[in-house]
Amino acid sequence: MISKKLIKAINEQINKELFSEYLYISMQAWFANQNLDGMAAWMDAQGKEERFHAMKFFNYLIERGGKVELKAIATPTVEFDNPLKAFKMALEHEQFITKSINELMDLAIKENDHATRSFLQWYVDEQVEEEASVDRIVNMLKMVGENGHGIMMIDRELGQRTFSAPATEE
Ligand code: FEO
Repeated sequence: MISKKLIKAINEQINKELFSEYLYISMQAWFANQNLDGMAAWMDAQGKEERFHAMKFFNYLIERGGKVELKAIATPTVEFDNPLKAFKMALEHEQFITKSINELMDLAIKENDHATRSFLQWYVDEQVEEEASVDRIVNMLKMVGENGHGIMMIDRELGQRTFSAPATEE
């Protein structure tokens, strides 16, 4: 049986993942308004991925006999000034999520819950990728600075991204 403490912490994590979706679709809207459609598409894919992360926790909690308790989702930032600022915020957010996943893992270890430890390992690995991909974009944007041509090139590259949930997950 999963502990009450873990049920509470996983419910909080579901809220954080849903907030992540909210934050990224807020960025998607901002990029679309700037006519940066590639960056908007990247954020669309990122938002879908966050929803997948949330629902993976949601389904796990139910599978373990825990109760899902959804809470209000905070209002995300809606103004980002420039693409670098938006992606820097995304990076900081991912670092915050990594910390939160690590704390969940610490709790699962403390509670001696081997099933939850095994389940959380997927998120530990996923966060390495999440941080690395955003960090790469932040560095590219720093490199081009205010150069419009450079920003358009990055926009075109980021527009290639799509998200489809792994068939074996959930
Ligand atoms: Fe669900 Fe981007 O971490």
